[in-house]
Amino acid sequence: MNLLDALKWRYAVKRMNGAKIPAQTLDTILEATRLAPSSFGLTPYSILVIEDEETRKKLQPHFYNQPQIGESSAVVIFAAHTTINEASVDAYMQEIAEQRGVPVDALKDFAGYVKGAIAHQTPEQLQIWAAKQTYIALGFALVAAASEQVDGTPMEGFDPKAVDAELGLAAQGLHATVALTLGYRDAANDYLSSALKVRRTSDKLIIKK
Ligand SMILES: Cc1cc2nc3c(=O)[nH]c(=O)nc-3n(C[C@H](O)[C@H](O)[C@H](O)COP(=O)(O)O)c2cc1C
Repeated sequence: MNLLDALKWRYAVKRMNGAKIPAQTLDTILEATRLAPSSFGLTPYSILVIEDEETRKKLQPHFYNQPQIGESSAVVIFAAHTTINEASVDAYMQEIAEQRGVPVDALKDFAGYVKGAIAHQTPEQLQIWAAKQTYIALGFALVAAASEQVDGTPMEGFDPKAVDAELGLAAQGLHATVALTLGYRDAANDYLSSALKVRRTSDKLIIKK
């Protein structure tokens, strides 16, 4: 299936059938998600993948009992880092140095630039900025899932504080921002499975100059 056909095939599934995603397919989707870009490349978030049924059941009430949580194969939680500081930048520089095989000292101008950019923001602004980055990863995950013919439901319909508490995220310096259930549609029980996709037409959405 080509990319556009896969994107037309996908929809935000309301009911899933409980079938498991093969491990290799899930890994492909997660690898595509890992390849999402972020501002400066700092990636100020972590991605939790919850396949365990008991944990998904515990999460379900915090998602206002949306059935996909229990019926999915995996729930992916995108969680922004709650502390973004000079140490975060230094850790990132270390990764660049290791992965590109360059001395960390050669990155000091870039490090200073990124540190300067974050120093100008309040903790609240940094939190909003980090949350925005998680949505780019969510987009990559959605496209990757469609391309692998795996269904997914992006989800903001949850109580972030309750999810943080259930998964002990605050203690790990994390805060849940958005989620994605991955699995397979239960078309017979999903009122949306045969609904036409509604989007603004391109002449209304895309402004060409
Ligand atoms: C950030 C975000 C949060 C969403 N939250 C939920 C949700 O909590 N539950 C749900 O069933 N759908 C949720 N949706 C799905 C949207 O309603 C859906 O993507 C939109 O109506 C377009 O339909 P389609 O994805 O089926 O093409 C969310 C979508 C996005 C992008």
